[in-house]
Amino acid sequence: MNALAASPSASASVSEDRLWQLLMDVAAYGATAKGGVNRQALSAEDTAAKKHVVRWAAERGFTTFQDDIGNLFVRRDGTEPTLAPVMTGSHLDSQPTGGRFDGAYGVLAGLEVLDALNDSGTQTRRPVEVVAWTNEEGSRYSPGAFGSSIFAGIAELASVLDTTDSAGAMLRDELAKSLAETGVPIRPQGSVRPHSYIEAHIEQGPVLEDKGLQIGVVTSIQGIHHLDVVIVGEEAHAGTTPRRSRKDALSSAVAIIAALELMTSDEDDVTRFTVGRCEVQPGSPNTVPGRVHFTIDLRHPDRAVLTSLVDRVRLVATEKAGPCSVTVTDNLTVDPTIFKAEVMTAIRQSAQALGLGHMDMPSGAGHDAMHLATLCPAGMIFIPCLGGVSHNEAESATPADLAAGARVLADTLVRLANS
Ligand code: GLV
Ligand code: MN
Ligand code: MN
Repeated sequence: MNALAASPSASASVSEDRLWQLLMDVAAYGATAKGGVNRQALSAEDTAAKKHVVRWAAERGFTTFQDDIGNLFVRRDGTEPTLAPVMTGSHLDSQPTGGRFDGAYGVLAGLEVLDALNDSGTQTRRPVEVVAWTNEEGSRYSPGAFGSSIFAGIAELASVLDTTDSAGAMLRDELAKSLAETGVPIRPQGSVRPHSYIEAHIEQGPVLEDKGLQIGVVTSIQGIHHLDVVIVGEEAHAGTTPRRSRKDALSSAVAIIAALELMTSDEDDVTRFTVGRCEVQPGSPNTVPGRVHFTIDLRHPDRAVLTSLVDRVRLVATEKAGPCSVTVTDNLTVDPTIFKAEVMTAIRQSAQALGLGHMDMPSGAGHDAMHLATLCPAGMIFIPCLGGVSHNEAESATPADLAAGARVLADTLVRLANS
């Protein structure tokens, strides 16, 4: 990837006010009373946000496409339109109690860059495409990031179609509705292989803010493993059934989770272990629980350590299940991602050229870039978020930092699109 000199005028044309306004306009879809968003994948709010992007593109004469999993693409042609496009983007779906910037920033910073390219009259050799990936969060439909995973050829569309949300809504129905409402042409899966992919995102952690730096050059994403644990006991009367003869699925779950908390604790606090969902059945105060389902989100930067932790989770679950039976199923495995040096160099050069303080850093969170990295050279740009708070309605970022990230994005995209 021989990067040509970047046009300084594209990054200089990024408008802090215009980007902020676009972020606030999109934050209205699924806005919550506490200032966050609930815009879960393929909900009416998520589709409304995608339609906002389609209208935005139409006003400027950009072409839009979606694919069969609902990933939405906005394309600005290059002088050599048959060349592979440089892509940028992230996701518009959110956690149930999500913030205004997780995901939306990467998509809308990409759109701001397209405006800046137009305003500065910048021509690029390669097309530049901005993409909103479907279902990065995985809170409504599991596993997360399957929009980018299907695009990258890792997952099959058919493998997710029969997934249901907690209210029983089938993904195939919700997807069909969203595709029809978004109403732009379908581009066949596999017809475009990006030249490179850059994703801008809030850091979702405290490091940049603590160090007083505006730009993180992301070096890697730690590995992620999701498991479903189902414990089956026996429903019984809470007043009459002696403790020693119970098969209490929740008591077993508590014992398993406590043991896993211990087993996954390490001195340096590297391993991430989270039980984010626990469903107890029948969920009656005076019936001994007969079934518990809980999820495990396990993360580690080292693939071998993560694999061995997953093996130990299975052992501990069996050992601590007591009188109940336990089943542990894999739901998602994503190996750690190491981003390509040449992409990191391009981002670093852009930050340097713009005089912005930057540092190399790993990502604790998962991102669509981890799947794109299997398809093409990929990288990420982080900007600070207030107090490192994310997956929380209070999530916040400053207009100045958001614009700084978009300027680095503009400069990097121009470098790559002219290479
Ligand atoms: C994405 O939100 C993740 O789970 O890291
Ligand atoms: Mn995100
Ligand atoms: Mn998220």
